[in-house]
Amino acid sequence: MATVYFTASSLDGFIVDDHGSLDWLTSREIDVDGPFGYRAFEQGVGAVVMGSATYEWLVANQPGEWMYSQPSWVLTRRPQIVAEGHPVTVFSGEVADLHPRLVDAAGERDVWVMGGGDVAAQFVAAGLVDEMIVSYAPCSLGSGAPVLPVRSEWTLVETGVNGDFVCARWRFNR
Ligand SMILES: NC(=O)c1ccc[n+]([C@@H]2O[C@H](COP(=O)([O-])OP(=O)(O)OC[C@H]3O[C@@H](n4cnc5c(N)ncnc54)[C@H](OP(=O)(O)O)[C@@H]3O)[C@@H](O)[C@H]2O)c1
Repeated sequence: MATVYFTASSLDGFIVDDHGSLDWLTSREIDVDGPFGYRAFEQGVGAVVMGSATYEWLVANQPGEWMYSQPSWVLTRRPQIVAEGHPVTVFSGEVADLHPRLVDAAGERDVWVMGGGDVAAQFVAAGLVDEMIVSYAPCSLGSGAPVLPVRSEWTLVETGVNGDFVCARWRFNR
């Protein structure tokens, strides 16, 4: 198993615009079963971890039952934000202390660091991310939340094209 940061970005490296919108992303054409597609990736995931802004975006934009069958963690100092009935675990603190629990929960499968960028950066800074997969949408945003706000080095492993997106997978240089 691996710990993977799987996300999508604008060409200038933002995962969300200044208004908290992902319209620039969700309006694009992509084949979930195509190269670097979400479907195959998600089937290999055994545990999910995300920051509270990502969680709150999901609650606001995809209301109803929790959409992930995998054990899911939300990093937040505000446990009260968790919607009633959502089977997520709240964690606050150093991601290095959480990571063994994520690995245990994932079993033979991968840990998905969903983001946002700051959460991914914490895992990368702690040397806990093995791979990063980014699908780049054909637009720039000028500003927003950055895809990975930390200095780090990676080795390019694989590239591809899916619909409007150019996609790549990198291995972290330890
Ligand atoms: N383009 C994509 O594919 C993609 C992927 C993921 C997310 N997104 C979008 O990106 C946006 C959010 O990204 P973001 O980087 O701004 O925020 P984020 O990483 O989702 O959330 C950051 C927040 O999580 C909490 N947190 C982070 N680390 C923590 C820790 N170690 N312990 C306790 N709490 C911790 C803090 O808030 P509190 O403690 O105050 O709760 C922090 O402000 C959302 O709009 C989301 O939809 C896009």
